[in-house]
Amino acid sequence: MKSVIFSRFFILLPWVLIVIIMIDIDTKRTFRSPMSARQRTQRTVASNLSTLPIIYAITPTYSRPVQKAELTRLAQAFRQVPRFHWIVVEDASSRSDLVTKFLARSGVSAYTHLHIFTPRRFKRAGMPRATEQRNVALTWLRQHRTKKDTGVVFFADDDNTYSLELFDEMRSTKGVSVWPVGFVGGRAYERPLVSGGKVVGWYTGWRPDRPFATDMAGFAVNLHVILSNPRAQFKRRGSQPGMQESDFLRQITTVSQLEPKAHNCTRVLVWHTRTEKPHLANEPKHRKDTLIIEV
Ligand SMILES: *[C@@H]1O[C@H](CO)[C@@H](O)[C@H](O)[C@H]1NC(C)=O
Ligand SMILES: *[C@@H]1O[C@H](CO)[C@@H](O)[C@H](O)[C@H]1NC(C)=O
Repeated sequence: MKSVIFSRFFILLPWVLIVIIMIDIDTKRTFRSPMSARQRTQRTVASNLSTLPIIYAITPTYSRPVQKAELTRLAQAFRQVPRFHWIVVEDASSRSDLVTKFLARSGVSAYTHLHIFTPRRFKRAGMPRATEQRNVALTWLRQHRTKKDTGVVFFADDDNTYSLELFDEMRSTKGVSVWPVGFVGGRAYERPLVSGGKVVGWYTGWRPDRPFATDMAGFAVNLHVILSNPRAQFKRRGSQPGMQESDFLRQITTVSQLEPKAHNCTRVLVWHTRTEKPHLANEPKHRKDTLIIEV
């Protein structure tokens, strides 16, 4: 009797296994989402990372209640970008503990931490901001990189939100590239107008007479252009807020040379989101916490 049960069991076993394997294959098929274009490029990219130009993202930053939250949002995007070097420049007379510790734990493997203090007289309303910090980063690049290095330089302010696709787009910048930016100029977006693959004008909400009516987050520059124009920098004197981009770009390129990215400037991949100032009016009304906790 026992042996009959045994032999039946062994006859059935292969069939049971086949059914289990088929169910398994089927679940895998159901739950595997199709590979996105981005994943495909990442896979190709991963097969030869060393040929990719490095993206140097320059982020000026200053101490304020939301600083760490802003930097956290940036780092969580940037750490996923291959061949990426973050240049963080504090508006401070020395490197702060907060930013030093933050960068060490950020997950961004290549970074440079700089600082330069903006004198109070330059901080009046109506004056362009972060000029010194961006220029210090350009100087660092000119001192530490040579024509043998390949790279793309991008100004990544800490109050924006960045799509990972933006970095795929800017990576191929030969000279100066441009693309749309969301929530600038008092409009849903501003963008370069493109015809026949060339920039022919600007769709903007503010001062359409600007030679380059784009935001700081709306362009990238090949490292060789930065190195071969050693005097190009952001101007404080005579530069009004909102004219910084134009004043800088006219030193290194012309409108007809601009390379449109993001599907001929029809896709928004970066947004000037800004973070609302937190409501802290109740802080002085209460006893301080007995612990000192970094925010
Ligand atoms: C990656 O690119 C470098 C530089 O172009 C080249 O020397 C190397 O052979 C490439 N490696 C592979 C695995 O394709
Ligand atoms: C951009 O426009 C040019 C010229 O019209 C065209 O050849 C090219 O395919 C367009 N690129 C994209 C990504 O749509």
